[in-house]
Amino acid sequence: MKTTILFAPLTAIETEILAVYAVDASTSKGPDAKPEIRLLTSDEGPLQAAQAVLDGGEFKAEPCETLLLHQPAALKAKRLLIVGLGKAAKLTPHEVRKGAGGAVRFAKPRGLKAVSMAVPVAEGLDLKLTLRAMGEGAVIGDFDSDTYRSDRKDRSVHSVEVVAPAGSEQAMAEAALREGVVVGEAQNFARTLINEPGNRLTPTILGERAAEMCRTFGLGCQVYGVEKLRELKMGAFLSVTQGSDEAPALIVMTYEPKGGEPEGGAAGPVLGLVGKGITFDTGGISIKPSDNMEKMKYDMAGGAAMIGAMQAIAQLRPRVKVIGVVCSAENMPSGKAYKPGDVEIAMPAPGKPGKSIEIINTDAEGRLVLADGLTYAKSLGATHLIDAATLTGAVAVALGQINAGVFANDEESYGQFVEALKVSGERFWRLPLEDDYREVIKSTIADIKNTGGRYGGAINAAMFLKEFAEETPWIHLDIAAVAWNDDAKAWMASGPTGVGVRSVVEWIRSYGG
Ligand code: BES
Ligand code: MN
Ligand code: ZN
Repeated sequence: MKTTILFAPLTAIETEILAVYAVDASTSKGPDAKPEIRLLTSDEGPLQAAQAVLDGGEFKAEPCETLLLHQPAALKAKRLLIVGLGKAAKLTPHEVRKGAGGAVRFAKPRGLKAVSMAVPVAEGLDLKLTLRAMGEGAVIGDFDSDTYRSDRKDRSVHSVEVVAPAGSEQAMAEAALREGVVVGEAQNFARTLINEPGNRLTPTILGERAAEMCRTFGLGCQVYGVEKLRELKMGAFLSVTQGSDEAPALIVMTYEPKGGEPEGGAAGPVLGLVGKGITFDTGGISIKPSDNMEKMKYDMAGGAAMIGAMQAIAQLRPRVKVIGVVCSAENMPSGKAYKPGDVEIAMPAPGKPGKSIEIINTDAEGRLVLADGLTYAKSLGATHLIDAATLTGAVAVALGQINAGVFANDEESYGQFVEALKVSGERFWRLPLEDDYREVIKSTIADIKNTGGRYGGAINAAMFLKEFAEETPWIHLDIAAVAWNDDAKAWMASGPTGVGVRSVVEWIRSYGG
């Protein structure tokens, strides 16, 4: 999708469809409350064209609600689309992000290939963040997981033109929109990977896709196989891989800031991103029920989010070093598979023996691959860790499908993550990691076991990972319940969401501008 920015009055825009955003400025509540619709533009044209229908009262400006007018009076545009952004008092760039996605998704099924949209102007709405959000929303809205549907070829919108108020700072506006597009494309790249089925995206292929991205965007990349895992003594990761005929892949991506010292000089932070890359999770010997098992192709969504984040970072070039580690394998039952009761030794941290792990359930495989991934990222010099994983069904029980789970062992990096969420618009809810919870993952035969019983499943998994993050500041994102949308939203297709990309990118930027 081509995105451009234009500084012109809306009346002059010649286009198939011009989207203008609207809010409800009324503050009254209750059944008799009447919406007070405000178009978020200082241009008179759209208002003239839409006045009568807006006065009619049927349009409420609810989030992503749309109203289409053909041949709007006083405008050169062929169609005027009014897109609701909800209550004026609650307007944020994230509402604009959804509105931009909604406008693109309105155009897609109607075969409209070029969309123009007016930058909403409202008090308290930061122009830079708004433009970023529009770039992200438009690109994200254009994605559909229809790669394998021959009846749905080329529904995409080819170009989006963002119309900014004359007099806005051109260079800033262009850069902000560009940033949004970069992040949106990174999120869509993650979604493309997540959407691929297990037969078409094996760990080897995931490694190839990551390497190809790294070549394109100038990142360092190594993809290691089973010999390297043995050399590093990654006993936890290896145990998960051994039941499958597909070779595992340890994907390592590196970003070094160029042209200027990183923030804090050579001794500055090194951010380690660690992703779960299970390309298919059958559960192994502790096999899953067949209902919904097909969904387990998305068990690499955390890894994909980190690959996507690296793609954005390569283009946004923050002044901080970043290492991405994705542990990819297929979790299968077979004569060679690991079994409940097995004891495995995780990768040793420098100067220490590896921790012994009693396997209780082979379906708790994500924490095993991540354990070695975290240790490995530290051994590569990571001073701050963040991981993303579709780790537990229990996080869905705890938080539903609205918020993902976030855990942290360090208040400072967590604080920066919370700030990043304000920009990304993604929703994460913190869950506890208090030492008392450690009790349930104690083993009688080994240092630790890989499950902790029925209660607090998401916390138990996080407590397991905490053993491997040790003293290093670390954030854990359990995205199992929000990585896949069963139902389409007005601004986002059903299927893979690419959750995590925007927040991780923003968190990284908070370390290096
Ligand atoms: N990949 C699953 C978690 C998952 C569940 C992701 C639903 C997406 C949707 C993970 O590997 C898993 O199987 N976890 C088990 C852990 C249990 C055996 C302790 C679970 O959540 O049931
Ligand atoms: Mn599993
Ligand atoms: Zn899994």
